[in-house]
Order: sequence, then C-alpha cells, then structure tokens
Amino acid sequence: MSTLAPIICDNGTGYSKVGYALKLYSVFPTAIATRGPASQPSRAPPLPSKPGHLASKRGVEDLDFFIGDEALANARTPGYGVHYPIRHGMIDNWDHMERYWEQTIFKYLRAEPEDHYFLLTEPPLNPPENREQTAEIFFESFNIKGIYIRSSWSSNRVTDRTLTGTVIDSGDGVTHVIPCAEGYVIGSAIKHIPIAGRDITKFVLDLMRERGETTAIPPEDALRVAGRVKENYSYVCQDLVAEFRKYDVDPYKYFQRYDGENSVTKQKYSVDVGYERFLAPEIFFNPEIYSSDFLTPLPIVVDDVIQQSPIDVRRGLYKNIVLSGGSTMFQHFGARLKRDLKQIVDRRLDASALASGSVLKSSGVDVEVISHKRQRYAVWFGGSLLASLPEFYTSCHTKAQYDEIGPSICRRYQIFGSAT
Ligand SMILES: Nc1ncnc2c1ncn2[C@@H]1O[C@H](COP(=O)(O)OP(=O)(O)OP(=O)(O)O)[C@@H](O)[C@H]1O
Ligand SMILES: [Mg+2]
Repeated sequence: MSTLAPIICDNGTGYSKVGYALKLYSVFPTAIATRGPASQPSRAPPLPSKPGHLASKRGVEDLDFFIGDEALANARTPGYGVHYPIRHGMIDNWDHMERYWEQTIFKYLRAEPEDHYFLLTEPPLNPPENREQTAEIFFESFNIKGIYIRSSWSSNRVTDRTLTGTVIDSGDGVTHVIPCAEGYVIGSAIKHIPIAGRDITKFVLDLMRERGETTAIPPEDALRVAGRVKENYSYVCQDLVAEFRKYDVDPYKYFQRYDGENSVTKQKYSVDVGYERFLAPEIFFNPEIYSSDFLTPLPIVVDDVIQQSPIDVRRGLYKNIVLSGGSTMFQHFGARLKRDLKQIVDRRLDASALASGSVLKSSGVDVEVISHKRQRYAVWFGGSLLASLPEFYTSCHTKAQYDEIGPSICRRYQIFGSAT
C-alpha cells in the first residue's frame, strides 16, 4: 500500500469543496438523493454508533443514490428524495453524510481511501462527539491511513505564528466571526450569526414574489433562480435611502433582466431583477428587514467579538479583518463593513473622550477589511496549504493510533507540528 497525496474535504452546508493538497478538484452541492421521500433534516443529536455499523448495514442499495449536482438532477425522479446532510455548518444526518463521503471518494475523486491521509474541516466549536463520529466513519468504513480534523478557520498562514486578525467566514448556512491572536483562535470570543447565503437566497425569492416576478418561474426552479440572481446581480450599497431613490428615478438604468429556461418544458422566460439587487445582502447590515429572530447587524457582532478579546490584541484584530466564504463575495461587502465598523469604533472613542473630559483627540483605531483572491474557497485552501507541508503527516491521527485508543483519540487536540 502506498501513500498518495492527502485528500482535503471542506463539506459546507451548501457546497463541498474537495481535492488533493494544493489542487482544488471539485465543488458540488452537499446534497444526496436517496430512495424515499425528501426529508426535513432532524434536529436530533448524532446517532450513537458502533464501529462499522453504518457501513455493514447497507447492502446493494449502496449504489442506489446520487450526490452533488446529480442528486439535484434526480430530484424529480419518481421514488427519490433529496436531502441536505449538513445544517448550519454541522452534520445533521450521519448515514447520509457517510454515503456522501463514500461517493465523493470512490466516484468523484476515484481514490482508494486506504492509500490516503485526509484533512477534514469542522465548524468552530464543533462538539467532540461529532469529531469522533467522523473519525470512526473514516477509519472503520473507509480504512484510511490518517486523519486531521481542522477547525474551518484556524490561521490560514499556518507557518506564520504571528498572525493576528478577525476572520469573517460566511457560507450558505452559517456566518462565523473568529478572532485569531498570534496564530491561535480565541475560542471564547467566537460568535456565530444564523444568517448566511441560503437566507439571502430565500429573501431574494420573497422580494421577487412580492413584485409578482415569479409567476413565470416553475416552483421547483424558484430557489435555484433566486440563487443565480443573487450571485450575479446583487451588491452591497453604501446608503439604502439613496439607493432606493436611484432606482425610483431611473429604473431602466438599474433594473436588470434574468433570462431562464424551464428545467422541464425547456420553455424560455424572462424576469425583472430590481431592488433585491441591493436589499438582499443588506440583511447583514440591517437584519430586521428579513428576520425578527436575529437583529444584530454584522458590524456590531464583529465589534463585540473584538471587544471580548484580550485588550492587547484588539488593535490587531480591527486592523486585519479577513473575508472568507461565498457570502462575503458581494461587491462592496468589505467597504461597507469597514465603514460601519469604523463608525461604531469612532463613536465609542468619542463617547469615552467626552466622559473623561479629555481634550486630546484620540489617534483613532485603524479598521481594515481584507479581500483576497482565494476568498470564496479560503477554508479549503487553508486546509490544503497545511496538508502540503511535510509536518502534516506527523500531526495526523493514524490508523494504528485509532486502533489502539479508539475514536476518543480525536478529543486530543491536534497541534500542528507536534506528533501527539
Ligand atoms: N458571487 C457571489 N455573491 C454572493 N453570494 C455568493 C457568490 N458566490 C457564491 N455565493 C453564495 O455563497 C454560498 C456558498 O458559500 P460557501 O461554499 O462558502 O458555503 P458552505 O461552505 O457550503 O456553507 P457553510 O460554510 O455556511 O457551512 C451560497 O449561498 C452561494 O449562493
Ligand atoms: Mg463553509
């Protein structure tokens, strides 16, 4: 048995990013179509499991399911139902997830798992039981050589232990704000926001429905169309009132048209795309326009996270706010976040100067938001960089260690560069 390049899987709520070290191979929906009705994901905790249990209970029906784009394409095949095994960043259905990984490895990557080490990502603050269950599946069912389970956002510049900054990772199902000081995540200050790409897509659909645009769109295509509209036409504005005015004064200039095709009848249709262009991502900055459950704007959450971090690293955290994930890709997202956050910080400085009667004007706090070219897949690339370093292998939990100690080995924190 030889050891081939490590495989890196970042399984997100919406999309799975998979590939070999430094080579992103494929990005496809985290969806599986199996026989039976589509499921509403349960809120149940992970199933208690026995080694090999999941793999052995399946038989021939193993081949009878589809994942990724194929799963969505089979959504209408009689007898099949589509399921999304990850919810808000956490695995919600382990049986589906195991099958999903199985096809990812054998069918998409065409790899023999026993020849590879794997790096998997997990959401920040993932319960250790979930990590154990993942390791159990990979060692017991796939017999892999070794595993490294990495919090989806640890410092991306793994070799740079001095990195201090705040990561905003916003994907399809969850948005995390993660402060890092000198390469270490400050776990106690991490916050998550239950608003991410899927909500924005639903909001786009609501807005289009309200204007009566969706009558031409077949119901089963509606969410996909709303997603396309969002990704292709939406942007973050800098002033909501002024933006509305612009559209009202000259709608022809700002309204766009989306041309689609009915996925069943192949009939062409065309719909107007209007205010949702700037209202959609506005839910990060004015969440009350969408939800009554979560009302704190993202810039305030970021400020809270930094204020809850140790005082000596706060300046560094404001100065290096790094964007990651698909839902940070809206045009001008970084500029608006920077402006709103700067206002919050300046107001606080002014208020404290006033309270203390100080006549000296503070030199201010530098707020910088960094966009970068790998932003969309930053979590995958971060993991991939780590897996390409020689120390990666000694940092993995190996099959031999797993056999000796069992799944609880994954409760040991894997510190990069240490062989424990
Ligand atoms: N250019 C774009 N503009 C706005 N949104 C985008 C863009 N490209 C992708 N998205 C959205 O990003 C989301 C997917 O991002 P990502 O792959 O980071 O999420 P994920 O990892 O699947 O989810 P999570 O990390 O929340 O579990 C989808 O909602 C998609 O519509
Ligand atoms: Mg993600």
